[in-house]
Amino acid sequence: MQDLRWPTYALRGVTLERAEPHERGGLRVIDSEGRSYLDAVNGVGCAPLGHAHPRWIAAMHAQMQRLSAAANSFTSGPQQALARRLAERFPVRDARVFLGSSGTEATEAAIKLAVRATGRSIIVAFERAFHGRSLGALSLTANTAYRHPYVRCIGESEPADPFAVAQVLRLPWGDLAAARAAFAAHGPRIAGVFVEPVQGEAGVFPATREFLVGLHGLCREHGALLGADEIQCGSGRVGAWSAWSRIVGDDPALYPDILWLAKALGGGMPIGVCLAAGELAKAMGKGTHGTTFGGNPLACAAALATFDIIESEGLLAAAAAQLPTLQALAVAQPHARVHEVRGLGAMIGVQVGRPGEQIGNAIGDRLMHDHGILATVCSGHTIRLLLPYRAGEPELREFWRALGRALEVSA
Ligand SMILES: Cc1ncc(COP(=O)(O)O)c(C=O)c1O
Repeated sequence: MQDLRWPTYALRGVTLERAEPHERGGLRVIDSEGRSYLDAVNGVGCAPLGHAHPRWIAAMHAQMQRLSAAANSFTSGPQQALARRLAERFPVRDARVFLGSSGTEATEAAIKLAVRATGRSIIVAFERAFHGRSLGALSLTANTAYRHPYVRCIGESEPADPFAVAQVLRLPWGDLAAARAAFAAHGPRIAGVFVEPVQGEAGVFPATREFLVGLHGLCREHGALLGADEIQCGSGRVGAWSAWSRIVGDDPALYPDILWLAKALGGGMPIGVCLAAGELAKAMGKGTHGTTFGGNPLACAAALATFDIIESEGLLAAAAAQLPTLQALAVAQPHARVHEVRGLGAMIGVQVGRPGEQIGNAIGDRLMHDHGILATVCSGHTIRLLLPYRAGEPELREFWRALGRALEVSA
């Protein structure tokens, strides 16, 4: 059948139809030919509970029967409960929460907050970073109450625009000396430094504690804000609620000012949120940001159920164990062509080629077609595993054995 979607994605040639029932693990998906795959793509890290968890479904079902949509000018129970839960679990002082429905929206909220709260316009971001794909819908919006704080149309001169959004200063990853030099050159204009504590799309590179603490110190010294993009690495994926906490620790003096989440947060339902320290969130007054589906009661109920299930089933510990388990297998049964097995918790990158070597897609296809394993490929050389948190040694062994065979064939 003809695919009527825009041709924006590189298609893998498989039509997914359903997942195996949760009682059998919920770790596999089944295609239109009836073939089963271990699902390490997981909606790109969006199904941390595995598929079709009955308590997650029941929570949404109950919410659907009660109230499934509510505009943001009203408060609703799930939205309030989720904001509180986020403030309790994530390392942001006296957090206030913006509720949206995608990662990109959460990044947008973080950018707007950084430029408004500081009155500055430069955001520092890093090489290989991925923060989303929006392109200026606000520029087309007519209402000046929404638009003028950030962008003006050609020919418009009033009012003066104190929040000119963001020029980006891109710096090398992990290089504190470069960050120091950037602050020396541009310090009074830097609104914020945005960092993924574990870079995901780049090929799964965890930041060191020294790098994150160093960036935090530079931000404090120069009055800039530190923003942690935890869209991919947050929500329990690294074996703690927050990758920042897992890497830096839980000292409130070292908390980021802004932290944002999406992907695994909703257990499979679309949701993206941005947390900011209470005094900073005051900069986001009426009309400064918004989105229709943000705080949708269904998505919030799904996220709350995801928190409950992860905590009651010990899934943070299970996620934390994944990387050490695979690294132990890699030591016990090495594959000659694997350069590195890295990551944190259930966010794993297996580098199978040198930088610039584009062999990952061939290996990824072989894993899928010959061995029934779905995994994404990052940067051309790294197989990325984003398994549900409960996946453990049996699944990692299955992957490791299959990878060995896939590598032999492509040698
Ligand atoms: C770190 C990071 N930031 C932002 C995004 C964008 O999120 P979304 O695709 O939900 O807009 C992603 C998505 O992969 C991501 O990994």
